[in-house]
Amino acid sequence: MNGKIPILAAILIFVLPATAPAGDIEAGREKSKTCAACHGAVGISPNTSWPNLANQQVAYLVKQMKAFRDGERSDPWMSPMAKSLTDEDIEDLAAFYNSLPVRDAYQ
Ligand code: HEC
Repeated sequence: MNGKIPILAAILIFVLPATAPAGDIEAGREKSKTCAACHGAVGISPNTSWPNLANQQVAYLVKQMKAFRDGERSDPWMSPMAKSLTDEDIEDLAAFYNSLPVRDAYQ
């Protein structure tokens, strides 16, 4: 038996979670239910004052949600929604909204 295998396995256990794609689309779909009233069930807002999120870039979505949460960006509607989001919630929500095709708005 090669003694290096357990060492490699141990290294992988620590390295993989840090390098794996962060967001979980299905978890994000669940978490997005509280966002749907304003941003729509498929990320297309029913109101011209609220931005569409469908198909937006993951990095941009993450940056904006953290900016609202941490107070760098402020809006009376959005800021309270972002306050309780964890980094994991934000990654999942960004993966979900990024996965939504824009054309769903017109179907
Ligand atoms: C009560 C309505 C409301 C709810 C609910 C809401 N948002 Fe928002 N959201 C807004 C508004 C309004 C803006 C635009 C604020 C501005 O003009 O700066 C916004 C902006 C955003 C942006 C930035 C978009 C951009 O293009 O810069 C993201 C990302 C976002 N919301 C995600 C979410 C997520 C995720 C949730 C659920 C956890 C959520 N929102 C819930 C109203 C809401």
